This record gives sequence, structure tokens and C-alpha cells, in this order.
Amino acid sequence: MKDLTPRREELEPIEIASRDEISALQLERMKWSLRHAYENVPFYRKKFDEAGVHPDDLRNLEDLAKFPFTVKQDLRDNYPFGMFAVPREQIARIHASSGTTGQPTVVGYTKNDLDMWAGVVARCLRASGLRPGDVLHNAYGYGLFTGGLGIHGGAEKMGLTVVPVSGGMTQRQVRLIEDFGAKGITVTPSYALSILDEYRAQGRDPRKSPLEVGIFGAEPWTNAMRREIEESFDMHAVDIYGLSEVIGPGVANECVETKDGLHIWEDHFYPEVIDPVTGEVLPDGEPGELVFTSLTKEAFPIIRYRTRDLTRLLPGTARSMRRMEKVTGRSDDMIILRGVNVFPTQIEEQLMAVPELAPHFQIELVRPGRMDEMHIHVELAEGVEADPVHVSHVLKGLVKSHVGVSVKVKVAPSGGVPRSEGKAVRIVDNRPKEG
Ligand code: DLL
Repeated sequence: MKDLTPRREELEPIEIASRDEISALQLERMKWSLRHAYENVPFYRKKFDEAGVHPDDLRNLEDLAKFPFTVKQDLRDNYPFGMFAVPREQIARIHASSGTTGQPTVVGYTKNDLDMWAGVVARCLRASGLRPGDVLHNAYGYGLFTGGLGIHGGAEKMGLTVVPVSGGMTQRQVRLIEDFGAKGITVTPSYALSILDEYRAQGRDPRKSPLEVGIFGAEPWTNAMRREIEESFDMHAVDIYGLSEVIGPGVANECVETKDGLHIWEDHFYPEVIDPVTGEVLPDGEPGELVFTSLTKEAFPIIRYRTRDLTRLLPGTARSMRRMEKVTGRSDDMIILRGVNVFPTQIEEQLMAVPELAPHFQIELVRPGRMDEMHIHVELAEGVEADPVHVSHVLKGLVKSHVGVSVKVKVAPSGGVPRSEGKAVRIVDNRPKEG
């Protein structure tokens, strides 16, 4: 793999500013953002009034803890435009969640917001090792999902040649990467694995592809998966994080030279980690739920938004801004199996340790009797002649000893696990509905 470390002169001064400078800027911006939300969004005014707090009560950054949280339901209750802080005419773009599990959540951007967003995405792409003039194959979905257009804006802003391929049509993905000489690819890690399969199906050596870096996010993935992808493609694999409610992709990104967690662009998004049960703010280093406050957004200011993503905050390394550790999972995706908490990433880690298995998996929850059972659906790696019973036994043993739960492992032939073209569906709950 080539050294893609950006030169220091290429970075924005704020990326390597002193902590004091960063905090001073944050405080000034946080005051603005609280006031902007309070004065322009009736929801925030009501919430702050009920909690007995006013934007003037913020004297230092820690005072933020006095303000109430915002949760996804608040966004649903204010569907579609109730959370906007500017007149609808000033909204330049709308994105929305798919809404498969309820009312969709809608977010809006002014022209300035789109420009800020492109700026932070450009920062991510540079931190990942891309330079103006490089070709970027953008396979995140275009549309209401923020992945495709979010990356696109940043790529154009920094002067990349962006290929807006979106998700799907995997054969064509491979062909365009090769024909256009893509140096970077932006895609979910699970769909990257499908592209990898397609390389092999076409008899092409993925290690000889023009790709030098993959920028993977929109779903949790492990360091074990990183090693697999880096080895298979002979390219760097870095993590990008974000969520629509906060902006979209580009809230935080790993630096290609360190790959030690994701630097949060704290000059625009103020992070806190809280105890998900008590709501208390935890000191840096302690694991908990990530909470964000936007510092500069005009259309859709968001105050203390509970992401439900679990991680911890760490000091800066390659940049001055703090890092978040790779997300373990969402609290919604935590499975409690006979008293043990299990995240899909823990299963992924064990799966990656079994060379006979492909990296695709799905977890099915069933309740044949009175007890819940977890069935892990996996498949043999392409071209591997192994005894499925033996392989299933190996994975079962690893999960039992490292995760602490007894599971059933169902080994399908190569290609037997459903694929995604965007975010993978890791958990299928086939337990009878309560009540
Ligand atoms: O997934 C934005 C995005 C697009 C991020 C492309 C990165 C790349 P949403 O659809 O609103 O936005 O989903 C946000 O996805 O709260 C996390 O649970 C999860 N997620 C996003 N990035 C990561 C990541 C986009 N790097 C939700 N690691 C978030 C783990 C991630 N989970």
C-alpha cells in the first residue's frame, strides 16, 4: 500500500490548531447555535423553557449539559418541516431517512449548510489520502439518503473527478473502477465485499485494481473487516462516520496515516458521550452513547441529539480534534440473548477468524420454544471445499468463548447469504411478536 499521508501544509489550520483555540471557537459557535435554535424553532423554545434553561445560561462548554436532549421521535413529531430554523424558501436541499420503521425523518440545508457540508467531506477525503485531480468512484446511494450526494459535494469541492455511480449493478461497478482508473472508492463496507466477489467472478485480481483507498461507513464494521478488505484489494481502508440528523457523511473520519479512530470535526459538531440510562455526561475515554450539537448549521440546528451509537471519545493524534473509537453498534441493534448483550460487530470479528468462511453474514433471531435463539447465517468462501459441519462447529466455539453466547451456525454454499447494495441488514427478527 502506498503512503498517502497528506502534507501538513495541505490541512486547514483549524485541524491542527491548539485545543484552546478549538474550545474558544466552539464556545462562540455554541452560543450562536443555541440562540438560533431557541429563537427560530418553536420546538426548542418550548423544550428549553420547560427545562428552565435559556441560551444565556451557557457560559462554558460544560454548561451544555444543562440543556435537554433531542431524540429521533422529536423529529418525527415535527414532520416534515417543523425543525427548520429558516423559512422554507431558504432551504436549498432536503434529505430524509427511508422511514421503513415509521414516519420518515426529514432534514434540510441552506446553501451555506451545503457549503459547510462539502467542506467537512473534503476534509474527510483528504484525510483518507485523496488529492485534487484523483478519480473517486462514489458507490453510496444517491437520492434521499445523504451518502451519495453528501460525498459528491465534498468530492467536487476538493477538485476530485467524481464518478456518481451510486449503488447496484455490481458488474458495472467493477468495469468502471477499472476503465476510469479510480484511486478512491466510497461505499458501505458490506457492498464493498460484493464488489470484491464480483472482481473474482470476473476473473480479475482485485489487488491489481487501480484503487488505493476505500472510505467506508454508514454501518458498523470491525478492524478484522478492515484487514480483510485491505489485504484483498491491496488498498487502505478508512472509516467515515455521519448521520443525516447531524449533517450526513463527514461528521468524523479516520486519518490514513494512523487509522486509530475517527477525528470528529469538532469545529462544526460538538460531541458528548453520555450514560444511555441516566443521561449523565461521561468523561472522555468512557464508553457510552454519542450525542451531537451542531455549531454552525442554519437550516436544521440540532441540540444534544442522541445518536444511539455506542463509542467513546479519545484525544486527538494525527489532528488536534478528538477521536471517536470505531462504533461498536447502535443501542437499537444490541441483542440481549439470555442475559448477554451481543452486537453484530462481535459476531463479525469471530467470523473473520475462520478462513473457510466468506465475510458475509446475517443474524436471525428465533424463538422455537420459550427461549430465544440466535442463528448465524454464513457461507463458505468461494472455491473452498470444507465440511460445513466442522466449520459451523469452529465458529460456534469462537462465539461461545469470545462473546459468551451459544448460537447455531448455518453454513450455506458460496453466495447463500443475502447481499445488500447499501447498508447491510444484519439482524432478522423472526421471533413471534409479543402480545
Ligand atoms: O449513514 C451517513 C453516512 C453515509 C455516513 C455514508 C457515512 C458514509 P444515516 O442514514 O442517517 O446517515 O445513518 C446514520 O448510520 O447513526 C450510525 O448508526 C450508522 N453509521 C454511519 N456511519 C457509521 C460508521 C448515514 N462509520 C447511522 N460506523 C449512524 C458505524 C455508522 N456506524
